Amino acid sequence: MTLGIIGGTGSQPLARIGQDWRPATDSASTPYGPASAVPEVASTDAGEILLLPRHGKPPGFAPHIVNYRANIWLMKELGADAVVATYAVGAIAPNIRNADLLVPHQVIDYTWGRRHTYVEPGEIRHVDFTEPFDGRIRSGLISAGEGCDLTGRLHRSGIYGCVQGPRLETAAEIDRMERDGCTVVGMTAMPETALAKELGIPYAGVCLVVNAAAGRGDGPITGAEIEAALKSAVVDLGSLLDTFLSSAVKALPDSPR
Ligand code: HPA
Repeated sequence: MTLGIIGGTGSQPLARIGQDWRPATDSASTPYGPASAVPEVASTDAGEILLLPRHGKPPGFAPHIVNYRANIWLMKELGADAVVATYAVGAIAPNIRNADLLVPHQVIDYTWGRRHTYVEPGEIRHVDFTEPFDGRIRSGLISAGEGCDLTGRLHRSGIYGCVQGPRLETAAEIDRMERDGCTVVGMTAMPETALAKELGIPYAGVCLVVNAAAGRGDGPITGAEIEAALKSAVVDLGSLLDTFLSSAVKALPDSPR
């Protein structure tokens, strides 16, 4: 079993969850251009983990610049049987607080202009996307969170509204997203989730809530608010993924090669 992890903002400490990290390949290049970085690989009791920092190493690719096609393609090429992604998000729903974790069950795509498909001109193919996230991985992540005592801070479902960025939203845009049913807002779940579906890679994610969305907090969104929440959420994310790797991941099937 090889688990790919695509780490979002602030996820550098995730490298603690494996040992003897080494480059998984010698080049980040793919038929779709370069991936964000050369993924690193480490061995755990559950198998291998591949870690790819979505924003590059050091971080340099903003959400609208990330080469999502190359990142997902490289994960597949390097043998990932499943992918877990992490995303920093803002909270729209009132019951979600800073530093909480959330395992989204649905996504609404508000992005535009991103290279969002592997379907080439001349080819006609429509991939079912009714359930964007893999149910087995989601259950594994939720039971891992419950197993390491995060229950009060872990939301078992939610609708991720993915915006283009890199600017944050207006208060009116957040009001509209709330009317649409969005629970959290972020900039990176799409087209990543859809590309994993196109390549048939079981994929799910964990959101780290780093701020109250625009118009939902006491004033403007500040870097200080985001950093404080991220620092705390990333510790919980590390425990959740550790538990996931030592238990739930064993229930995921190896993909046929
Ligand atoms: N909006 C969009 N993306 C985000 C936010 C936000 O408030 N916080 C973290 N990523």
